[in-house]
Amino acid sequence: MTTVPSVHIKLPNGVEYDQPTGLFIDNQFVASSSGKTFPVYSPSTEEKICDLQEADRDDVEIATQSAYKAFKKWSTVEPKVRATALLKLADLIEEEKETLKAIEALDNGKSLFCAGFDVGIVIDYIRSCAGYTNTIDGRTINTGDTHLSYTRREPLGVCGQIIPWNFPLLMWSWKIGPALATGNTVVLKPASATPLSALYAASLAVKAGIPPGVIQIVPGSGRKCGDAILRHPLIKKIAFTGSTAIGRDVMIAAAESNLKKVTLELGGKSPNIVFNDADLDTTVQHLIAGIFFNSGEVCCAGSRIYVQEGIYDKLLAKFKEEVEKLKVGNPFEEGVFQGAQTTPDQFESVLSYIEKGKAEGAKLLTGGNRIGNKGYFLEPTVFIDCDDDHTIVKEEIFGPVAAVCKFKYIDEVIERANNSEYGLASGIHTTDINKALDVSQRLEAGICWINTYNDLHHQVPFGGYKESGIGREMGSEALDNYTQIKAVRIKITRKNE
Ligand SMILES: *[C@@H]1O[C@H](CO)[C@@H](O)[C@H](O)[C@H]1NC(C)=O
Ligand SMILES: *[C@@H]1O[C@H](CO)[C@@H](O)[C@H](O)[C@H]1NC(C)=O
Repeated sequence: MTTVPSVHIKLPNGVEYDQPTGLFIDNQFVASSSGKTFPVYSPSTEEKICDLQEADRDDVEIATQSAYKAFKKWSTVEPKVRATALLKLADLIEEEKETLKAIEALDNGKSLFCAGFDVGIVIDYIRSCAGYTNTIDGRTINTGDTHLSYTRREPLGVCGQIIPWNFPLLMWSWKIGPALATGNTVVLKPASATPLSALYAASLAVKAGIPPGVIQIVPGSGRKCGDAILRHPLIKKIAFTGSTAIGRDVMIAAAESNLKKVTLELGGKSPNIVFNDADLDTTVQHLIAGIFFNSGEVCCAGSRIYVQEGIYDKLLAKFKEEVEKLKVGNPFEEGVFQGAQTTPDQFESVLSYIEKGKAEGAKLLTGGNRIGNKGYFLEPTVFIDCDDDHTIVKEEIFGPVAAVCKFKYIDEVIERANNSEYGLASGIHTTDINKALDVSQRLEAGICWINTYNDLHHQVPFGGYKESGIGREMGSEALDNYTQIKAVRIKITRKNE
């Protein structure tokens, strides 16, 4: 394998760094076997950043063999070896925090402000994975005096991991952290639109002492590179984050190949519910964080806002005022909250949803337009007086577009909130603890935020009910999805010698 050089990149905020451009296999940045490359663009300028090597089937084969070879040793070392490497990796990410934030802003288009949240959780989460390495224990089971029965939690093997473009580095950490902590090795495909931070972070993994073959990064298309991962017989698990439509294909490919274990983190259309007794000012800020954080490109975005009729007019007046204060634009500029949408396709798709909202009779409270003519910038957009059968209330838009509906009664809003094929997240805003507890128990969602929203924590599990996913990420639950249980039974014979 021939290694390929990095390119030197200078960013508008003064950050300079060397961007690796090769596939990351066996701790080296190498050329693709086909010699093919693909361009990566900045969504805020629409200009090309650089060309990267493009992985296809042959490269996935090489990467998987390398991961398979490394698994033998990585899975059997003392846990402290893995802990030490992960702690060092977290330290290096912390040292290079400003560079990583800038890479995310450049490649994804998100504001440095939003990127700061991502990198903060990445550091916390990788540290917490290091800590989890010494909790991967089994149990002894009382089966009477004739046997010693106990369990071991063993890693699965080579894990294929496919991550999306909305949180490139954060998803890298959610996949790589628990996989490595439990002794698995990985072949990870970043999104073709946002592969830069995954490769750069891999260079930090080398410095952290993570052995060759433990991490492979293979940027490439879903159709070739992704499919090769999904169907490879040596890959024992797939962790996928992306749309529900592709999630279905992932399960099919896993079933048709070797029945890989599958965890999925998919789409959502999460209800964010405001009751009459909510605190107006803080609720408005949480509604904003819920739908406009990360330019609305958040699977758990609070995109269906239900507001009780007694507070409806007052809340919307304040919401409009605060939304119109949000600064949208150059992700590197101080004070910018919302950067560019990440891909041209997604940008067009969001615009077409806005058109659909208008056509179907939802009322535009604010926004609705493109900003400028270079870069994929959108006004934060709020539709009000929506009906539950409006397309913008039913479908995931994945952009800065909120759909607000009015409701009267608690039972009514629970029924309307649950009436979705999705069940990723939910939000409740009330000053009545009893109401908060009751409603949180009745909502069908993997997480319920009360008087807050998009409030992720690395020790709290995240994942979906219904068609929003399978399995959990973060928390101790994530480790269960990277281990399997072996039961051991030893017969004890009594002898009088
Ligand atoms: C959620 O609401 C649906 C109706 O849309 C209902 O069938 C379901 O029982 C509710 N779930 C819970 C846990 O109450
Ligand atoms: C994920 O882990 C949970 C336990 O937290 C377990 O119930 C579930 O079956 C696992 N799913 C997969 C697909 O590994």
